[in-house]
Amino acid sequence: PGPTVYEAEDATITAGVVESNHAGFTGRGFVNYDNAVGSAVEWTVTAATAGPADVVLRYANGTTTSRPMNIALNGTVVSSGLTFPGTGSWDTWQTRTIRVNLIAGSNKIKATATSTDGGPNVDRLTV
Ligand code: GCU
Ligand code: CA
Repeated sequence: PGPTVYEAEDATITAGVVESNHAGFTGRGFVNYDNAVGSAVEWTVTAATAGPADVVLRYANGTTTSRPMNIALNGTVVSSGLTFPGTGSWDTWQTRTIRVNLIAGSNKIKATATSTDGGPNVDRLTV
């Protein structure tokens, strides 16, 4: 099967807002993380079977400074301070991919900002 799309605007948002004022997103918008440490989006992802899967995060960062985030799987950080470099503008979206070991059934994937700039704008996650 092909990847499944999980929109950020449908996920659980901590210290962030759904917006649509920058072009190029999919779905109804994207999440604008508050510019603070700890702002986060958590998705619930379903896997038919346990095993490795590529998790693709689509984001925009209109600044020239990376907006690092910790990526946690089922409560454990699996990628610490993953960089989300500038994409050139808030309308320009790029992806970051990490490989994680999913469990069968429901999985929680959380992207938490680790700098006072907060996270980038996040459009979606595909698995
Ligand atoms: C701008 C931009 C937002 C972005 C913010 C930021 O205000 O319009 O979409 O989230 O910068 O720096 O985080
Ligand atoms: Ca922001």
